Amino acid sequence: MTRSIRKAVFPVAGLGTRFLPATKASPKEMLPVVDKPLIQYAVEEAVAAGVEVMVFVTGRNKTAISNHFDTAYELEHELESRNKEEMLRLVRNITPPHVSCVFIRQNMPLGLGHAVLCAEPVVGDEPFAVILADDLIDDGERGCLAQMVEQFQQTRCSILATEQVPPEETASYGIVATDGDGRLVPVRGIVEKPAPAEAPSNRGVVGRYLLTPGIFRELVRTGRGAGGEIQLTDGIARLLQKEPVMAYTFEGVRYDCGSKLGYLQATVDYAVQHHHLGEEFQAWLRQRYGQG
Ligand code: UTP
Repeated sequence: MTRSIRKAVFPVAGLGTRFLPATKASPKEMLPVVDKPLIQYAVEEAVAAGVEVMVFVTGRNKTAISNHFDTAYELEHELESRNKEEMLRLVRNITPPHVSCVFIRQNMPLGLGHAVLCAEPVVGDEPFAVILADDLIDDGERGCLAQMVEQFQQTRCSILATEQVPPEETASYGIVATDGDGRLVPVRGIVEKPAPAEAPSNRGVVGRYLLTPGIFRELVRTGRGAGGEIQLTDGIARLLQKEPVMAYTFEGVRYDCGSKLGYLQATVDYAVQHHHLGEEFQAWLRQRYGQG
């Protein structure tokens, strides 16, 4: 596979209001599902897709994320002196050696589109991925982004990950109108958070995008949209006028970990499947709730 997508952007500068007070002093992307923070799952998915440069767009409370991907000398020294080999391996191998991390500051939370635009100086003139770490996707295999990169090798155009959302929830998503219903189909139109009556379909965009650099030219010209924010969806709607954009129905299960319910569902599912804890946790669930 040629390494067609080398860079991934992780917008992590949102306020995370749905998770207050947990997100008062720490970004929601640092919330752990069992034993790993959401942002680490996202970075691992990018590595599995061949990405080598991780670009984090951070806001306030940025230090927890940069510290997580930095070397922790004191912790490593302590673990070494206590012969905690397994734990040492865990903290040393957060990212493989060929991967680099770049941090950019979004000085005001002006929206996802604005956050992506902040990454332009690092991304430059090449196609790139955007991963929203609070959408945790488990495909039990290579990862959602790797699926999309594979599609990109054929199409060489922007690809949005999509799934069918309940009709009453369209106002929580960017919704696409497509030509046809296949797994990979051209996008005809896209609207941010339409009311159910105005939604062109139930096909919602989730937190994985492959974008051509043309998106930067459009985001510069995109004004504030829904919620007074510069929306990535509006930038994509403009991009659509200039070049093809595809909608891709990914394989796997998505958990909306930006919401408390989705986060709890992810925690239970990942705990049940966990290689060390799984059996014990299932036994406990059965005993306590009569199932597991
Ligand atoms: P959300 O819409 O989930 O907003 O952002 P939020 O602020 O993170 O969370 P709530 O809704 O208040 O609970 C989608 C993604 O875009 C990033 C967020 O970090 C999240 O990954 N984002 C959003 C930014 O990086 N900057 C922004 O200005 C807005």
